[in-house]
Amino acid sequence: MGVVAIRDLKQHAGETVTVRGWMFNRRSAGKLHFLQVRDGSGFLQCVAGRKDVDEATFELLGRVTQESSVQVEGEVRLEPRAPGGAELGVRRFEVIQMAAQPYPISIQDHGHGVDFLMEQRHLWLRGPKASATLRVRARVIQAIRDFFNQRDFTLVDPPILTPAACEGTTTLFNVEYFEDKAYLTQSGQLYMEAAAMALGKVYSLGPTFRAEKSKTRRHLTEFWMCEPEIAFATLDDIMSLAEEFVSFVVRRALETCGEEFKHLERDTKPLEKIVPPFHRIRYDEAVTKVRAAGVEMRDEDDFGTPQEMAIVGDSEKPVMVHRYPTAVKAFYMKRDPENEKRVLCVDVLAPGIGEIIGGGQRADDLAYLEEQIALHKLPRAAFDWYLDLRKYGSVPHSGFGLGIERTVAWICGNEHVRECIPFPRTIYRIYP
Ligand code: 4AD
Ligand code: MG
Repeated sequence: MGVVAIRDLKQHAGETVTVRGWMFNRRSAGKLHFLQVRDGSGFLQCVAGRKDVDEATFELLGRVTQESSVQVEGEVRLEPRAPGGAELGVRRFEVIQMAAQPYPISIQDHGHGVDFLMEQRHLWLRGPKASATLRVRARVIQAIRDFFNQRDFTLVDPPILTPAACEGTTTLFNVEYFEDKAYLTQSGQLYMEAAAMALGKVYSLGPTFRAEKSKTRRHLTEFWMCEPEIAFATLDDIMSLAEEFVSFVVRRALETCGEEFKHLERDTKPLEKIVPPFHRIRYDEAVTKVRAAGVEMRDEDDFGTPQEMAIVGDSEKPVMVHRYPTAVKAFYMKRDPENEKRVLCVDVLAPGIGEIIGGGQRADDLAYLEEQIALHKLPRAAFDWYLDLRKYGSVPHSGFGLGIERTVAWICGNEHVRECIPFPRTIYRIYP
C-alpha cells in the first residue's frame, strides 16, 4: 500500500500503509515509543514496540527530534480514543531530515508570547491551531466563491496598483510608478462598479491595503476582501444578500470544519444560530443603544470597537446597522432621499468582532458625485473614468465588501485577525 493522508487513514483499517510528515511530539515508555506525526491533513499517533522494529530503528525512534521530517510504514488500527479515530503500529521508520535542536517553538514551553510566535510565523503555521485556522480560511474562501458562482455572479479581478483613493486619503500606501505616483488599492469597489455596468452581477476576491496606523486586534495593513457589486440593486437588496451570504458561509464552515473547530476549541453552538434574517437597525437607533449601554459617543460620529460591541450586545446573530451620517462615510455613497444627513449604507456587525461587512447603495447622479469629489478634496482627473459610469447609462446599483480575516476570526472564535492570515502585515510587522 502506498502513501496515505492521515485524514483518510480510517478507511484503511488493517492495511499496511506509509505516512509521510513531520514529528510533532514523542513520548517514550520503556519498551514503547509513541510518536505524534502530522502531515498537514491531520495528526496521527504511531506506536512502536521493541519487538515491532529492528534495534537500530527502535533506537532512532528514541532520539528523533521535534519537527524532523519522517516516513513511517505500519499497520492501521482503529482506535476510537485517538484523534482521527486511527493509530499506526510502526513496522518501518525513516528520518528524511533530522531537525536541528532546539526547535524554536518547543512543545514543552506553552509560555510563548504572541510577539515571539509572530516572529516565528513561518514555523508557528505548523501548530494545530494555526494550521486549523488556515484550513478554515481556505474553506471560507471556497464557500464565498461557491455562493457567488451558484448565483451567476461573474468573478472580476480589479487592479492592485491604482491611481486614486477609494476609502479616503489617510490610509494610502504610495508606490513609485515609473515617473508617476500610484497607490496600493484600498478596495476594488470603483472598478467593480464599472464591471457591474458591463456584466450585471460581479464579485471580486483579493488583497487590499491600508496604511492603518493604529494597532488593534481587527486591523491589518494587508487584508483580503470579497466585493460583490450589482446593477439595479438597492440598499434593501444588498442587505438581504449580505445576510444570506454570511449565513451560507457559516453553514459551510460548520459542515466542513468539524475537526478544525475541535483543535480551535470553538464552541459551534452559537454558529448554528446564524440564519437570516439578521436584526436591522438605523444608525440613530444604534447610537441610542450605545449610550444606553453606558458607552461614550459623540453626536454624528462613526462607531469604534467599544460602540460596535455595545450595539451587538448579547445578540447571537450579526446586527445590520444602516443609514450612517453622510459626514463619516466615503464620497461615493448615495444620500438617503428622506434625510440628507444620512447615506444609504450598511455595516454588518458580528458578535465578538464587530464590523465584517461595509457597503451600500452608490451615488448614481453625476452632478452629486462631482460635488462630493470636490468636497472630499479628491483629484478630479483621477476619477474621470469613474464619472463616465454616471454619464453613460447610469443606474441605481449597490454592493459591499466583506473582510476575510475578520470573518474567519469570528467563525474560528479567534481573538485577533492577525492569526487569520498566513503572514500578517501590521504597522509593526512585515517579517517574516
Ligand atoms: O468598510 P470598508 O472600508 O468598505 C469598503 O472598502 C467598500 N469599498 C467595500 C465595498 O462596498 N465594495 O471595508 C470593508 C470590510 C470591513 O467591513 C472589514 O471587514 C474589512 O473590510 N476591513 C479590514 N479588515 C482588516 N484590516 C483592516 N484594516 C480593514 N479595513 C477594512
Ligand atoms: Mg467600513
